[in-house]
Amino acid sequence: METYSEVLDAKGYIDEAIDPRLDLVAEIQRLKKEKNAVILAHYYQEAEIQDIADYIGDSLGLSQEAAKTQADVIVFAGVHFMAETAKILSPQKKVLLPDLKAGCSLSDSCPPHLFAKFKELYPDHLVITYVNCTAELKALSDIVCTSSNAVQIVESLPADQKIIFGPDKNLGAYVKRKTGRDLVLWNGACMVHEIFSQEKIDRIRREYPEAKFIAHPECEEHILKAADFIASTTGLLNYTQRESANTFIVATESGIIHQMQKASPHKTFIPAPPNNACACNDCPHMKLNTLEKLYNCMKFELPEVTLPADVIIRAQRPIERMLEISAKLGL
Ligand code: 13P
Ligand code: SF4
Repeated sequence: METYSEVLDAKGYIDEAIDPRLDLVAEIQRLKKEKNAVILAHYYQEAEIQDIADYIGDSLGLSQEAAKTQADVIVFAGVHFMAETAKILSPQKKVLLPDLKAGCSLSDSCPPHLFAKFKELYPDHLVITYVNCTAELKALSDIVCTSSNAVQIVESLPADQKIIFGPDKNLGAYVKRKTGRDLVLWNGACMVHEIFSQEKIDRIRREYPEAKFIAHPECEEHILKAADFIASTTGLLNYTQRESANTFIVATESGIIHQMQKASPHKTFIPAPPNNACACNDCPHMKLNTLEKLYNCMKFELPEVTLPADVIIRAQRPIERMLEISAKLGL
């Protein structure tokens, strides 16, 4: 008989069989009350997970929520770096992630030991890291940012301040264009935002000439140049609500469309297609979480995300600096 820790090492989640007659949604609600738990979900989660969450948001909103929650247990329906961020901000709380293997290609594209060497090449530079990175990388940084505040955080620094920006080269290049600053970029990227097909998007735009084409700043420059509007997932969602257009072509992970459709049921949302046979773009890491894994994770309080105390302490300040700047700017 395998122990839970052996199961977690092998699979990344608790695979306990669930009675198919169980009302999972009702059971998750019951566990939430019983354990004083809060479920925080990113927009890229499956619709059924978003629908049971206490808070749904982008990376900034989720961090703000994790910092202020009164719950004893944070169940993070998202990927590993997000759960780590919650643990760094609320180290006294238990942080659970339904599947420990829910990683991130962008985070993986920046191993901390290589970034530490890179940083040594620029000793007079300040380090800004996008939140999509490991806790160890955050601990090597001066300020963290998300896609909703990266431009403002760079602009909040003196014009002559030299800056390294990592790990996302696409977001970094976008921030460079928006601010006119000469950032030193780490060469990382997100697999989901780098495979949009310009050709297929152009075809859809010809079919729907009135549609607005909206994109996340993790997309490549040629996609962003063609976009009518660029923002974080929350920014894109808000835009679709206030904009009078009836059709939107959405270049980010397709999970966000669930909230767009809920907020504007009469509008049409078309996921921008990737360069493969799929019609929409799913993040394979985000989609590792399922309602079943969420239930088992709350029932057994496993897998838990833990971090060494020294990493928590070193990573705390850069994230708090981001939250302070964001609060000052009303973000
Ligand atoms: P935001 O949550 O900042 O929109 O970023 C999207 C993302 O890639 C999360 O992994
Ligand atoms: Fe990482 Fe990209 Fe997935 Fe976001 S969408 S979690 S950046 S791989």
